[in-house]
Amino acid sequence: MTPPPTATLIRPNSPEARDIAHVLHPYTDLKLHQTVGPMVINHGKGVRVWDEQGKSYIESVAGLWCASLGFDNERLVQAAANQMRKLPFYHSFTAKSHNPAIDLAEMLIERAPVPMSKVFFANSGSEANDTAIKMVWYFNNALGRPAKKKLIGRIKGYHGITLASASLTGLPYNHRSFDVPLPGFVHTITPHFYHGAMEGETEEAFATRCAEELEKLILAEGPDTVAAMWAEPIMGAGGVILPPAGYFPKIQAVLKKYDILFVADEVICGFWRTGNYWGSQTLNIVPDILTCAKALSSSYLPISAVMVNERVFQGLSEESHTIGTFGHGFTYSGHPVPAAVAIETLKIYDETRIGDHIAEVGPYLQSELRRRFADHPLVGEVRGTGLIAAVELVEDKATHRNFEPSRKVGARLVKLCEAHGVIARILPNDSLAFSPPLIISKAEIAEMLDGVEAALVELAAGI
Ligand SMILES: Cc1ncc(COP(=O)(O)O)c(C=O)c1O
Repeated sequence: MTPPPTATLIRPNSPEARDIAHVLHPYTDLKLHQTVGPMVINHGKGVRVWDEQGKSYIESVAGLWCASLGFDNERLVQAAANQMRKLPFYHSFTAKSHNPAIDLAEMLIERAPVPMSKVFFANSGSEANDTAIKMVWYFNNALGRPAKKKLIGRIKGYHGITLASASLTGLPYNHRSFDVPLPGFVHTITPHFYHGAMEGETEEAFATRCAEELEKLILAEGPDTVAAMWAEPIMGAGGVILPPAGYFPKIQAVLKKYDILFVADEVICGFWRTGNYWGSQTLNIVPDILTCAKALSSSYLPISAVMVNERVFQGLSEESHTIGTFGHGFTYSGHPVPAAVAIETLKIYDETRIGDHIAEVGPYLQSELRRRFADHPLVGEVRGTGLIAAVELVEDKATHRNFEPSRKVGARLVKLCEAHGVIARILPNDSLAFSPPLIISKAEIAEMLDGVEAALVELAAGI
C-alpha cells in the first residue's frame, strides 16, 4: 500500500507555515493539517491551476464543481470591473433595485426548465436552500397549514452546511457532532442501483421501490405534516449518483398525491453540467422551486438564486402583505457585482454555444472513462452523463464491496493524481469525481485521464 501523506518540509514564514498558523479550513482534518499543511494555489489558466512551487494541475472538478469557464476568463473580469466602477454596491431591501439584479432575474426566468415566476438572490448554495426552506414554511403558513412543515432529503444528498441546509443534507460527516439534523428533517433512501438494488431487480423496479419507500416515509410521518422534498437531479457530493430510469416521475407522482412541494437543488447540475441547461431537463423533473449557484457566475464571485413558481409566489406574496414585509434577505442579495458577472456568464454560455461543446466532449469523457477504467480490478462502477462522472473503487468487484474507509484508499489515489498533475476529489465510497470546467477540450480530457490512469496503476501496485 502506498504510504499515507506525510508532512512535507514546511519553511518558517512560508505561505504554508502562515496558513497552518492562522487558517481554519473547511472540510479538513484540522489536527492533521497542523503537520501536513496546505496545497497553496497561486494562479490559474483555462482548466489548469498552478501551485506555489510552480507545478501545474488540470482541475478535474473545476474547484468545487463550479469554475465552469475555467480560471482566466477575461470577459468575467471586465464585467466585474465595469460594474465595480459604476455601482459597486447596492441592496434590494425595501423595494430598492438595480439593473444587474433585474436583468439577471429576467434571464433566469427565461431560461428556467419549467415556468417560474420570481427569483430571489443569495450568496451560496446553502443560503439558497435555507431560503427555500423558509419559503416553504412561510408558504404553508400562508395557506393556513401550520402543521405541514417537515422536509424530506435523501441519504447521501447534499444541500449545504448552514443549520437548515445541513439538516437536509444526508451525509454523516455533515451531521456528526454538529447537533443536526434539526427536528422535522427526515431522509429517504439513496436511489443508487449499483448498491441499493435487490437481487434480480430491474432499474424500473428499483425506481418503483424508491417511490414506495418515499410514500411509506410520508405516511409514517403523516402527510399533513410533510411540506417539501429536496433532491439534486444527480447527487453530487454524495458520490455522483444517477437515479434509476424513471425515478423522478415516480417520486413526483407520490409528492403530488400528498400536496408536497418539490425543490430541485441545481447547485451542481445547473448550467449544462449534465448535458442540458438544467439537470431537471436531463432527469425529467418538474420543480416548484429551483435553487442554483456555482456555475451561475462560473464562481468568479459568490451568488446563488432561488426560483419559485407562481403558486409559491402567490403564497409568499399574500403572507408578506398580511405581515407587512417578507422579512428575509441578505445584505448582499443580488449584489450588483456578482450579478453582473453572472449575466456575463450566462451570455457566454449562449454566445459560445457551450451546450454544443458539452454535446461533443461529454460523450467523449463518458466513453473514455468506461474504456479506460470499467474493467480495472479496483473499479466497481463508472457512472455519469455530460461532464459529470465518478469512478468508484471497490475491494471486491463481484460483491460491490468497498474498501474499509480506515484504509483511506481514495485519499491515496487523490495524492497520486496530484503527483500526476491532476487535482482530484474523492467522494463517499471511494468514488473519484469528475466535473471539469465546461470549457475542457478532448485533448485536455485525455491528458487528465492519462494522469488518473497512471495514478491508479500506482495505487493498485501498492495494494
Ligand atoms: C447540490 C448542492 N447544494 C448546495 C451546496 C452548497 O453550496 P455552498 O457550498 O455554496 O453553500 C452544494 C455545494 O457543493 C451542492 O453541491
